Amino acid sequence: MITLNLNGKDHELDVPADMPLLWALRDVANLTGTKYGCGMALCGACTVHVDGQPTRSCVTPVSVVAGKKITTVEAVGQDPVGEAVQAAWRRLDVVQCGYCQSGQIMSATALLKGNPRPSDADIDAAMSGNICRCATYVRIRAAIHEAAGNLA
Ligand code: FES
Ligand code: FES
Repeated sequence: MITLNLNGKDHELDVPADMPLLWALRDVANLTGTKYGCGMALCGACTVHVDGQPTRSCVTPVSVVAGKKITTVEAVGQDPVGEAVQAAWRRLDVVQCGYCQSGQIMSATALLKGNPRPSDADIDAAMSGNICRCATYVRIRAAIHEAAGNLA
């Protein structure tokens, strides 16, 4: 048994210590908003926050995050910054197929929590690990600026 703090609540999960967090989230805790893309820390689709830091859950064993605060896209909107990011995403209609977007939102929220007025270069650097096969990058950047402006 391993105890994970998921979106503010402790969950006792009967999983092996080396199970990737992404598997535990999706297959055991039924938090399917976080997506599997590459499984190799290359695409960002599986990004969650661990103690506020954007983290690739596909390569993070559950044993490493036991006792830490894990936030997924299901709860990021409870945070004012996450809420502003999601509102900007909706207003600018960022999403195309949607597959990468929970990871994009988690990375964007982590960026704005650490840097409330990021430049284009800051955004490109922070978001470079989040791949979008639909190439929504221009709208992602615009939505991050809009969320930053609304939060200011
Ligand atoms: S699924 Fe984790 S980075 Fe691609
Ligand atoms: S919206 Fe389709 S992969 Fe990003």
